[in-house]
Amino acid sequence: MAKARVAVLISGRGSNMAALVYAAKHPECPFEIVLVAANDPEAPGLKLAQAEGIPVFAQSHKGMKRKEFDAIITARLKKAQTEYVALAGYMRLLSPTFVSEWRDRILNIHPSLLPKYKGLDTHERAIAAGDTVSGCTVHVVTAELDDGPVLGQTEVAILPDDTPETLANRVLIAEHQLYSRVVADYVSRESSPDWILGQIRALALQLPEVEEKTSHGSPGFFVKGGKFFAYFTYDRHHDGVTGLLLKTSGPEEQAMLIEQEPDLYYRPAYLGPSGWIGIRLDLGGIDWGHIGEWLRKSWSHIAPARLRKAHFLADEF
Ligand code: GRF
Repeated sequence: MAKARVAVLISGRGSNMAALVYAAKHPECPFEIVLVAANDPEAPGLKLAQAEGIPVFAQSHKGMKRKEFDAIITARLKKAQTEYVALAGYMRLLSPTFVSEWRDRILNIHPSLLPKYKGLDTHERAIAAGDTVSGCTVHVVTAELDDGPVLGQTEVAILPDDTPETLANRVLIAEHQLYSRVVADYVSRESSPDWILGQIRALALQLPEVEEKTSHGSPGFFVKGGKFFAYFTYDRHHDGVTGLLLKTSGPEEQAMLIEQEPDLYYRPAYLGPSGWIGIRLDLGGIDWGHIGEWLRKSWSHIAPARLRKAHFLADEF
């Protein structure tokens, strides 16, 4: 699989960015750094990135609305075909639009053992509280500051004579070790069929009265007492394809989808003639929002009217 394309956002020194850049130089690293962007054109990290031959982008946020500024960053990230965004000392709150546009694709490193000490001055606060252990956390970025699912943490002992500076220096060493490992694991999840199936399962089982059963060797999802609306397929025909099979409105829609996006959609064996569509899940960069919508659409093709009504009515409130 191609290396995942990671962009790093910084505001200053950029030592975590540097740690990611150097980790990415290892031939087996599953990600590459495709862009380093800063909201401060003077950010020292930019020079280092440039010297390493990485495309850089700087745009001061001053005098700009948050949403407007984030739209500029998003445009630049897209131009670099970014798949994941790693925040590394990026001192900007993100607009809700930015967070939802990159949902589950933004990671951050924070110098405390979250959920302890969100925000600034983490080392002062840990020392003042008499903690004997501090550390760092890598988490997925959500709309709440320093919130979101924790992906990895490293504990760092606090010494009796530590100052916020000495502790910060030691935590930083741990940060540099942790960040690249967690990013590597995170971007590799999509090459694991088990992980992908877990995501599909969570989305499918959220729909009303859905159950899972293996059908002809493939995990399938059906409405209780009714028919299947989705099958997960992994190398089923020894073609190496990981995909999701879903019901369309019929052969016309199926043909249109394949014509519009021939890389993403395919006509599955056996179910193809009855208008089912296959969506590739092995191309990297899975759009889970899109998959969720598809599951729901496929579910509504086979769900009885009473369930559809209840579901759509519930959605309106
Ligand atoms: C790090 O301590 C990081 O955890 C926090 O900001 C600091 C950035 O340092 N979010 P650097 O710019 O990566 O050197």
